[in-house]
Amino acid sequence: MTTSPYEHHDYDVLIIGAGGAGLRAAIEAKQRGLSVGIITKSLLGKAHTVMAEGGMAAAMGNVSSEDNWMVHFRDTMRGGKMLNNYRMAELHAKESPDRVLELEQWGALFDRTKEGKILQRDFGGHRYARLAHVGDRTGLELIRTLQQKVVSMSTDVFMECKVLRLVHDASGAVAGCVAYWRPTGEIVTFGAKAVIMATGGAGRSWKFTTNSWEGTGDGHAMALWAGAKLIDMECFQFHPTGMVWPLSVRGLLVTEAVRGDGGVLRNSEGERFMFNYVPDMFRAETAETEEEGDKWYDDHDAGRRPPELLPRDEVARAINAEVKAGRGTAHGGVYLDIATRRSAEFIRRRLPSMYHQFMELAGVDITREAMEIGPTCHYIMGGIQVDADTAATAAAGLFAAGECAGGLHGANRLGGNSLSDLVVFGRRAGMGASDYAEAHQGGSDLDMSEVEGAVTEALAPFERTTGENPYDIQRDLQEMMQSNVGIIRTGSEIDEALSALEVFNERVRNIAVKGGRPYNPGWNLATDLPSMLSLSRSVATGAKNRKESRGGHTRDDFPKPDPELGKINFAQTSDGGNWDSPIIVTESPLLVMPDELKALLEEGK
Ligand code: FUM
Repeated sequence: MTTSPYEHHDYDVLIIGAGGAGLRAAIEAKQRGLSVGIITKSLLGKAHTVMAEGGMAAAMGNVSSEDNWMVHFRDTMRGGKMLNNYRMAELHAKESPDRVLELEQWGALFDRTKEGKILQRDFGGHRYARLAHVGDRTGLELIRTLQQKVVSMSTDVFMECKVLRLVHDASGAVAGCVAYWRPTGEIVTFGAKAVIMATGGAGRSWKFTTNSWEGTGDGHAMALWAGAKLIDMECFQFHPTGMVWPLSVRGLLVTEAVRGDGGVLRNSEGERFMFNYVPDMFRAETAETEEEGDKWYDDHDAGRRPPELLPRDEVARAINAEVKAGRGTAHGGVYLDIATRRSAEFIRRRLPSMYHQFMELAGVDITREAMEIGPTCHYIMGGIQVDADTAATAAAGLFAAGECAGGLHGANRLGGNSLSDLVVFGRRAGMGASDYAEAHQGGSDLDMSEVEGAVTEALAPFERTTGENPYDIQRDLQEMMQSNVGIIRTGSEIDEALSALEVFNERVRNIAVKGGRPYNPGWNLATDLPSMLSLSRSVATGAKNRKESRGGHTRDDFPKPDPELGKINFAQTSDGGNWDSPIIVTESPLLVMPDELKALLEEGK
C-alpha cells in the first residue's frame, strides 16, 4: 500500500470526472460491490453534459416505427465520414434504447407522445425522429438522475479537487493520481486498482466555445502523458449555432433542437442558403426546394428533410462560407428563425431555455424575432483510444469513456449521440474497470517520485517573483487557436500554430502567481494551462498530418476527402510523458468491419 506524505485515499475504482460518463461508470462499479471514488474539479451536478440540451439519440422507434439500431448505426457511420470505430458505433446503436429506459427507471422525466411513450425529436443527420428529450434541458435531466443514483449508493465524491497527473505503480500500470483541493491548495493522493478517465471536453483552448471553464482537455492530456494513445485529435466539432451577440456571451450554445423543431437558416439577404450546400452524399434524402422542405416539418412522409438538418459539419461550414462571402449579419453570424413557422406557445414549451437565454442575455424574443447565430467550438471527436467493449486504453489500469475517449463519432458527431455515448460507454467503462480491479487483488503502490515531480511543478509559480500572468497566456492561446486551428484550416496556419505553441510552452514554464494556495483562480488556471497546451498541440499536430477534409476537420489546401486517409486513424503517443514532451504520430488502420455491418451501410446508399 502507498505511504503518501499527503492526505491519501484508496479505491478499487477511481473515476476522474463527474459528468454523465463518470457517474454512469460509478453506478456500474458500485453495483458490483466495489469501492468507488469520483473526483471532480467542479461541483457535482455541474458538468458540460448539461450542454447537450436537445436530447439523447436512441433508436426506440416511438415516433417512427421504421427506426431501429441498424439505421442508427448507419447514420452514425455516415455522419462520422466512416472514420468511426465501427464496433463502438454498433454497441452504441444497439444499447442506447436500454440506457434511456434505465434512466427513466431511475427517475428521469422525458416528454411524452400522445400515447404516453417517450417522445423523440428530429436532429441533424438522424434519419428518423430519434432524440429522447425533456424540452431543451435533456443533459441537465440526465445529470440530475445519475447524480441522485450515485448519491443514493453512498459513493464518495471529491469536489473541487483538481487532478494534476496520473501516477503509475512499480509495474508501470496506472495506479492513481495526485491532485489538490481548490479550497485549500493542499495536496491529496489517490490509489486505485483501476482508473477511469471521464473528464469530458477541451473547447477552452478556443475563444468562442460552448464549453464551460472545466473543458481544458485534462483527461486527454493526462492519459497521453501516462502512456495511452490519442486518436484523430484534429477532428473537432464546431456546433453551427452559438450566440454571436452580445459579445460577452458569444459562443454560448443555441440548441440544434431549434432546427429539429422547425427553425430555418437565412443570410442577410433573406436567402435560405442551406439549399446551396447539400453534399452529394446526402442529396437523395434532402429537399431541393423550400416548399418541399416545409412540407416535411408538418408531415415526415411528405417531402424530404430540409437541408438545415444536415450533419453539423456541413451546416457549420455553410454558415462560415456565407459570412465570409459578405452575407452575414452585423455581428458576423446568420439568422436562425423559428418564429415564422411555430407559435409562441410551441416555442416556449419546446424550447424554454432558448426562450429565456435570448430574452435575458440579448433582449431578443425568439417567438417573434430571428436569432443571430454562428459556429462555436463545441466537441472533440478525437480522444483517448479505447477498446470498444471494455473501454481499456493502451495504458494498463486506465480506462476512458465519454467525450475524452475517441472512436465512436469518427470525424464528426451527430447531435444527440453524445448523451447516449456517455451512458453506453460509461457503463462499459465501469464494467471493464471493475473486471480489471477484481483481477488485480494487490493494493496500489504509487511511484512517489512521480507524485513529487507533479507537486513541485504545480507549486513552482509561487516561487517566481516575476513572470507571466496565466490569464494573459490563456487569452493569447485562445486567440491563436481560434485564428489558426479553427473551423477552416490551412497548412501554413497550422505550422504557425505549432511554432506559436512552442513559445506558449516557454511562457508557461515562466508563470508567476501571487497570493496563497486557497481558492486562488490564477494558480488554478496555471495548473490547467499544461493540459490546454498539450491538447492544443495534439489538435494542431493531428491537423497537420491529416492532409484532407473530413467531417469536423477542414483543410482549405486539401478540400476533398482522401480515400486512403479514410482508412486510418492518426494515433499520438508522448515521447517523454511530460506536458511539453514531443508527440509521436503513427498511422493506425481502422478496424475491419464484418460483412454484415458493411451490408447495412450499402443498404442506406
Ligand atoms: O444542440 C444541442 O442540443 C447539443 C446537443 C449535442 O451536442 O449532442
